[in-house]
Amino acid sequence: MSEQHVRREAHERWSHDRLRALVQPDRVHRSLYVDPELFELEMQRVFGSAWVFVGHESMVPQPHDFIATRIGREPVLMTRDAQQRIHVIFNRCAHRGVEVCPLERGNARFFRCAYHGWTYRSDGSLAGIPLAKAYPGAVASGDPDYSLRRVPRVDSYRGFVFASLSAEGPPLAQYLNGIRKSIDDLADRAPEGTVSFRAGVNRYVIEANWKLQIDNAVDLPHASFAHVSTVDENGRQFGRYGGGPRLLTDEGRMIDWDALGVVGFDYGHGYQGRPPAETVMEGPLVREYRLMLEKKHGVERTSEILAYDRFNSVVYPSLTFQAFGQHIRVVRPIAVDRTEINIWPIWLDGAPEELNRRAIRSLSATHSAASMIQTDDVEVFERAQRALASAGGDWVLFRGHQGSDAPWQEGRRGLGASEFVSRTQYARNWISYMCGGHGNE
Ligand code: FES
Ligand SMILES: [Fe+2]
Repeated sequence: MSEQHVRREAHERWSHDRLRALVQPDRVHRSLYVDPELFELEMQRVFGSAWVFVGHESMVPQPHDFIATRIGREPVLMTRDAQQRIHVIFNRCAHRGVEVCPLERGNARFFRCAYHGWTYRSDGSLAGIPLAKAYPGAVASGDPDYSLRRVPRVDSYRGFVFASLSAEGPPLAQYLNGIRKSIDDLADRAPEGTVSFRAGVNRYVIEANWKLQIDNAVDLPHASFAHVSTVDENGRQFGRYGGGPRLLTDEGRMIDWDALGVVGFDYGHGYQGRPPAETVMEGPLVREYRLMLEKKHGVERTSEILAYDRFNSVVYPSLTFQAFGQHIRVVRPIAVDRTEINIWPIWLDGAPEELNRRAIRSLSATHSAASMIQTDDVEVFERAQRALASAGGDWVLFRGHQGSDAPWQEGRRGLGASEFVSRTQYARNWISYMCGGHGNE
């Protein structure tokens, strides 16, 4: 069956009533994870409308630098033009639709299409057509039909570039609301106040639906089970590497996840709480780093910066990250049961080089394709994908601490084992997009 055929069928078959019946207050239907038609609709309606993380400005530091990526499954380029402006444009020739840039990143004053040589500037505008007399006036006209099409909306927050394939919807600042502070927590840890993506990326494809990774980012209790193989004799994860989070008590029991709490915001964002204590870091290097921050912010603010209370944060629908773990993670859906995961270490600008390198090494031990921790989760996601395709049950349950969440700062807070952030993502955000809204019923 062709992709277009699947799309047409999906539109006809999935009425709003039918979609709404799949999301109940405490559970969602398994078809959200296994039905290829629903996946097609998600690409059009969720990824076709939401602000989606595209990249970070530091990925294109010089004029004419570019990266190629996708919004949902739409191929786009993020470029920096000669005037230092950032653009997000479709990677699709205006002539007959060929991908104009086959590379993942680089520097190019011009993109020349491999088919008939139409050439575009780094801002996407048409620079030239060979045999231009066949298209009289095309180059001079400035007609956008002859340019690489621009993604309708592009905006950034602290260097994190987001784009929306829809011309309508909330502005980025409104969209991010309370999750902005998670980005601040990360960027404020850099003595220069900015972060860079210049330490490579861990990338792998998993045989599981993209939402399994997003559900997981606001799921605290799984750590006591899925990640127990990485716990040392004191119940600490990676204890010897600088005091990771505690997963078990002295008696070897589960720690009190409920006390840490989970927080959710409008548009589906949220985070897992962590004890608001400074990350355990010692040694001369750390003292040097702390002094750098104190020089810039003073002692009090430095303590605040190092004592953020958020563990994993999620910017719905595709970005998750940790200030503490100094990385971001981006899911790029490929098919209903196939997802590319990208994990970028974050470089804190101005921090001692060795401190940044340590963070990268630690991330390689926890989140690379052959690491511990993330591979525990990936194994669980793939087991979920296999079993969700079976007839062993129709629903995926998110009933944990139902009704316990209450207003909290800009959002709502629940006990740590509450599954309310996921409940809300499906019942207010996913369903809104899928029924043609802007993500926040
Ligand atoms: S398709 Fe690109 S120049 Fe013809
Ligand atoms: Fe996990």
